[in-house]
Amino acid sequence: MVVILLGPPGVGKGTQGVLLAEVTGARHLATGDLLRAARRDGTEFGRQAQGYMDRGELVPDRLIVDLVCEVLGTLDCETGVVFDGFPRTVPQAEALAEALAEAGRQVDRVIVLEADDELLVKRIGGRRTCSTCGAVYNVFFRPSRREGVCDRDGTVLVHRADDDPATIRRRLEVYRQDTASIVRFYEGSAARLERVRANRPVAEVQDALREAVGTP
Ligand code: AP5
Repeated sequence: MVVILLGPPGVGKGTQGVLLAEVTGARHLATGDLLRAARRDGTEFGRQAQGYMDRGELVPDRLIVDLVCEVLGTLDCETGVVFDGFPRTVPQAEALAEALAEAGRQVDRVIVLEADDELLVKRIGGRRTCSTCGAVYNVFFRPSRREGVCDRDGTVLVHRADDDPATIRRRLEVYRQDTASIVRFYEGSAARLERVRANRPVAEVQDALREAVGTP
């Protein structure tokens, strides 16, 4: 099954995407994570993406589409995919449809996670991540056992570079500009689109997602 998680920054796409992929045996494919890994590795691609990310703008479609197609090319047709943060524009959605069609596949579910801006800003403000394993914590809602240190590998937790207040505001604006057209695109497709309120505990949101994709 091919599932797309849409939603504003901080709504929980990453948190929920990892859990949903685990339970369905799918690959969690988060373009933000791939971009941050490319930056950490100092690749040319990471360097090209850096300025856009730091300003809270979208990275150009051609870079993102190449990145996603490269990963898709490594998966067999049986492997489910949970997309997180992709597609974000109609050209990205069209490119995904084309790449999947070549493999005889299509997008099955599109789930729009929703929450109020006030909560999103609080979640993002409290987010801390592990730069070694990518684990995500929250000082308000999901603290690590030892303050400031990753439970899994002991790495010191960091605040994401684009999680400062000005960039958060810009990321929210960019999300709003592009969402309506993406939602319209999928409403006119064969995929089933559902909206899930994400202002609830992680486990409750996860239950709603599993119901939406038909996984117990
Ligand atoms: P990306 O990494 O995709 O960031 P985003 O969309 O802004 O989303 P976030 O990662 O901020 O939030 P999330 O929804 O994953 O929430 P999370 O689970 O972490 O993109 C970053 C940048 O990369 C973009 O700005 C752009 O420049 C570029 N980019 C990426 N993809 C692109 C594309 N396709 N095209 C062009 N450019 C692209 O949760 C947030 C916090 O809340 C965490 O601390 C978590 O622990 C906590 N939390 C989550 N759920 C709950 C809950 N239910 N209750 C309490 N706390 C919760």
